[in-house]
Amino acid sequence: MQRPKLQIALDTYDLPSALAPLQQAAAHIDVIECGTILCLAEGMRAVKIIRSLFPEKTILADVRIAEAGSLISKMAFDAGANWVSVVSGATMTTIEAVMKEATKRGGEVQIELIDGWTWEQAKCWRALGVPQVITHRSRDAEAKGELGWGQEDFDEIRKLDDLGFKATVTGGVVPSDIPLFKGVPVYVFIAGRGIYAAADPGLAAQTFQDAIHKTFE
Ligand code: 5RP
Repeated sequence: MQRPKLQIALDTYDLPSALAPLQQAAAHIDVIECGTILCLAEGMRAVKIIRSLFPEKTILADVRIAEAGSLISKMAFDAGANWVSVVSGATMTTIEAVMKEATKRGGEVQIELIDGWTWEQAKCWRALGVPQVITHRSRDAEAKGELGWGQEDFDEIRKLDDLGFKATVTGGVVPSDIPLFKGVPVYVFIAGRGIYAAADPGLAAQTFQDAIHKTFE
């Protein structure tokens, strides 16, 4: 099993608040996520600037496409993103349009699994060639007190892997969660607040990487 990557989710309200922790953590980061909140606050300028500062890193623009797939994904890829996100509620027509744009540019598409998605849909996404899915514990669920990762999540990730997806895990992940995923085929762990809001973002990112290396050695 491949060792999972570490992605920093930059969900800050402005670019300077994203860049300061990113500069400190970057050496330990595999994928930089321009988070939905940052993209809404700063637009694709955030992706452009982060691309210019980190030309070698993989960048996800977490634009959560629901419609206008071709236009929005084009904006994100033009700004320098490698990956774009689409919500699981988007129509197959929208997802196909995003896939077409991504394929032209050597990019990748992630479907963010929001409550209510079905295995039928998942099979169709695979048939369209979608490579990645995000298993997501939403901030709204977290606010309702739905905490923790369990057997149901691990089984779901294994089933997604069996279908051929690379599965990413996100939503309030902390380093002590990582060992729970031992033997589970996780492609990327995403951490937002756990890194960018830490007192020492560099140390926080290193602690995540240490946990990943230890769990998936
Ligand atoms: C929120 C998101 C976040 O980008 C993702 O969940 C990571 O953030 P955090 O680790 O702070 O929960 O998609 O819906």
